Amino acid sequence: MLKTNFRKSQPYIQGEWISVERETVTITSPYTNEVIGEQLLATEEDVEKALVSVYEAKKEIAAIPSHKRAKILKRAAYLLEERKEEFAKLISLELGKPLKNTLDEVSRSIETFELSGEEAKRLIGETLPGDASERGTKAIASTFRVPVGVVAAITPFNAPLNLVCHKIGPAFAAGNTVILKPSSQTTLVATELIKLLLEAGFPENAISMVLGRREVVQQIVKDDRVNVISFTGGTVASRNICKLAGMKKVLLELGGNAATIIHDDSDITRAAKMCAKTGFSNSGQSCISVQRIYVHQSIVDKFTNLLKEEVLKLKIGDPLLPDTDVGCVVDQNAAMRVKEWIEEAVELGAKVICGGNRSGATVEPTILLNPPKKSKVICEEVFGPIVSIVPYETIEEAIEEANDSSFGLQAGIFTNQIDLAYKVANKLDMGGVVINGTSNFRLDHWPYGGVKDSGIGREGPRYAIEDMTETKMIVLQLSDND
Ligand code: SIN
Repeated sequence: MLKTNFRKSQPYIQGEWISVERETVTITSPYTNEVIGEQLLATEEDVEKALVSVYEAKKEIAAIPSHKRAKILKRAAYLLEERKEEFAKLISLELGKPLKNTLDEVSRSIETFELSGEEAKRLIGETLPGDASERGTKAIASTFRVPVGVVAAITPFNAPLNLVCHKIGPAFAAGNTVILKPSSQTTLVATELIKLLLEAGFPENAISMVLGRREVVQQIVKDDRVNVISFTGGTVASRNICKLAGMKKVLLELGGNAATIIHDDSDITRAAKMCAKTGFSNSGQSCISVQRIYVHQSIVDKFTNLLKEEVLKLKIGDPLLPDTDVGCVVDQNAAMRVKEWIEEAVELGAKVICGGNRSGATVEPTILLNPPKKSKVICEEVFGPIVSIVPYETIEEAIEEANDSSFGLQAGIFTNQIDLAYKVANKLDMGGVVINGTSNFRLDHWPYGGVKDSGIGREGPRYAIEDMTETKMIVLQLSDND
């Protein structure tokens, strides 16, 4: 029997919600294990239809003037503001992310749409006199940003609203159509978002959403009607996408094992508070969540005690309660994997300062001291509520350790010496470095992305639009008499 709040997520294709005769998958709340809905999976034919729909609509969408695209995006921001609590609660229910974090995520999503709307009006080019070349004295060129056509947005579970807005917002602002494949673990949020976009005035054929497994992603990625693939997720999946994508442009926002350095001259009370807040929000399920904390050996005991004090204050519990700081991870399998990684680190010599236990999909906020370099909690992406403290002797050693990773997304450095801070920031091989803050700080208008296995390209509407448009040049060649 269906429960009162039983919800359905459905593919949205060619202006229609698919509602019948499809394979269905039960959706359960990871915190309570209660059935909260079901999702309908798209068939191969559905995906083909979705591709046809967004491909055929691309000229029509590109022809919408930018002030109209901006207005639609701003209206989407406005509607999201009106339904902020509803969206926040839905994310908390479906993902187990605490309400504190999901309210923040909805606020950020509103900003992402507002920013995208503003950027829609700033699709500017430049005028290039030809006389820099001897052959060009009679020529002048103008450049224009033109939409690429179809953007495929493949999105993760950890920020299931804002990271979708970061793809749809810039893609539509630039005049593209979008085929969305959201994470299988957060399809209810994605479905509500599509409904909201339609209400905001998105043309029905500007977007299609397909739900499904790996085969759906493969079908989209291989298809030559897609021009740009914008993927946020894991490194292994990204390598498969790159293999299948052929000549398409691929934008990748991938993982990290973010490092934060705490130098001996820093305000360690503040650093400890910030590490506790940003190492455990959303149970550490963010690509820039504080994971490795390199602490100068002279302050390691003091810092460890301060951090433990802060972490023990975190309230663990029901994600839907307003004062919960730490909910659960995305599912029980993820929790079991995180617990195994703690055990591996301990076997290899790490000390558990606090936490370490699991119940269902909830893992206690855990501080580990001194896990060796080869332990998974150091060299891989944890995506769970664990931070590891590693002492260092010299700042060069800290930089070397932080850089000794296949990832390079963001890092933090706490020090009171501005020149040292810049020296460290310059030497860290990352997409971004935060001075006197942790790795886990992102504003949605800033360029966000990494180097090495952390990805290719930058998010942030202004930067994403650069990748979702082509430069078109129009040249005026005057006659020799002019
Ligand atoms: C992520 O890359 O996990 C998202 C981080 C954020 O937007 O704060």
